[in-house]
Amino acid sequence: MMISARICMANAAQIERHVLPDSAAAARAVAEWLLERALAVAGRPALCLAGGTTPRLVYEMLAERPMRARFPWERVHWFFGDERVVPQNDARSNAHMVREALFERAPVPPENIHPVPTESGDAAAAAAAYEAALKQFYGSERLAANRPLFAATLLGLGHDGHTASLFPGNPALAERKRWAVDVQDPSVPEPRVTLTIPTLESSGEVAFLVTGEEKRSIVARLARDEALPAARIHPAGRLRWFLDRAAACPAAT
Ligand code: 6PG
Repeated sequence: MMISARICMANAAQIERHVLPDSAAAARAVAEWLLERALAVAGRPALCLAGGTTPRLVYEMLAERPMRARFPWERVHWFFGDERVVPQNDARSNAHMVREALFERAPVPPENIHPVPTESGDAAAAAAAYEAALKQFYGSERLAANRPLFAATLLGLGHDGHTASLFPGNPALAERKRWAVDVQDPSVPEPRVTLTIPTLESSGEVAFLVTGEEKRSIVARLARDEALPAARIHPAGRLRWFLDRAAACPAAT
């Protein structure tokens, strides 16, 4: 059973919060949301994926029945909200994780997959190349408020309130011009490439998927601290939070 409610977060605009009994139910709800977004947008909808460990089950479910048969594989293009600057066959790579969980298990045209080009190991070059790839796909140098780049963007939440590779206090948070930037942060061992806030916000809908008791305190903190990176994502379209009961702050369960 899914409980949808207005969340207990600061500066809530139009936010929908979905609390699911457990992580599997939360993953299924997100997979259904991605399918719904892909079907709702004509032409070639772009989906922007989250990395880390939490969304893996979502990607696996998309490749399996019943969603596999309904998913418009030919039309959908796949992008990443951030990436670790490691080789693409490295276990730390978000592209590697999604390839194993989804791309190798579903009829995804290879030309529809747009990973961050990390092979050079040069984070700044990778960020610049990814920005160019996004602009080429979008067909313009400027994001238009009435034409979102992504049909849907999926994000995760770190224990410190980071999302994508936008870390607390990192200069990348303030970037408003560039679409993608390289990030060095003392909280993570490897250099990163992340989409900037304006790029992530250029989405028909944005959703966070957060599960597990260990995330409950940061979910509660977000209600009080608008400076946290995850609290600074304000898409033009709808913002959704998919949480399992363990992660949800008590007030809304
Ligand atoms: C990454 C992610 C990052 C992630 C959070 C949560 O590349 O690591 O994009 O923002 O979503 O760190 O990670 P977990 O899902 O593993 O808790």
